[in-house]
Amino acid sequence: MKKPTVLIINGSPHEEGTTTAVLGEMIATFEKEGVECRVIQIGKDPVRGCVGCASCKKTGRCVFDDKVNEAAEIFAEADGLLLASPVYYASPNGSLLAFLDRLFYSSKCDKRMKVGASVAVARRGGLTATFDVLNKYFSISEMPIATSTYWNQVHGAFAEDAKEDLEGLRTVRTLARNMAFLMKTIALAKEEIPLPEREPKVFTNFVRR
Ligand SMILES: Cc1cc2nc3c(=O)[nH]c(=O)nc-3n(C[C@H](O)[C@H](O)[C@H](O)COP(=O)(O)O)c2cc1C
Repeated sequence: MKKPTVLIINGSPHEEGTTTAVLGEMIATFEKEGVECRVIQIGKDPVRGCVGCASCKKTGRCVFDDKVNEAAEIFAEADGLLLASPVYYASPNGSLLAFLDRLFYSSKCDKRMKVGASVAVARRGGLTATFDVLNKYFSISEMPIATSTYWNQVHGAFAEDAKEDLEGLRTVRTLARNMAFLMKTIALAKEEIPLPEREPKVFTNFVRR
């Protein structure tokens, strides 16, 4: 079986921050499980939001040629997508949301049965709200979502604090193992079972006249 690949989007601007520390724990686990990790970090550069120009409908790429198109190329080949974000005002980091709106809207690859998972880190609150927002990208894309023994959250204002959240770290290591298992089983299943039949698209608006 081909080594599964997971695309990891680190939504933090801090290279050595809490999100990076938590992802380090997950990457070490993925490596033990024989999963290849490709990491893209949002960083400190500005990220354009989607402007709804629909140019991607013709080209299959975002009109703003930045890390989003780089991620889309890796996503097309990947078996899974892991999103990790610091909590900002009880939501994911705004730059990550801008990035994900453009990634999911512009990339035309078949996302079905690519495994999704998300992780939120915060000093104190807003973690499950953040987790819910991130999971919405998967659940509109026919992507199965890997889960763990808790909602995937780790507490810490800084990387050092996260190391003390032993339950949080156990949760994300378990998540990495479960995600690896799902990616491997889906790859095996695809050798025998075709992807589900697709109905033609229907696009209705809730407008009454
Ligand atoms: C603009 C901003 C908003 C934040 N909002 C919250 C919040 O709602 N709840 C919380 O617990 N922490 C909040 N934090 C703290 C961060 O989530 C926390 O420090 C996190 O560990 C940062 O991760 P990073 O080092 O990977 O960037 C906020 C931080 C910033 C900069």
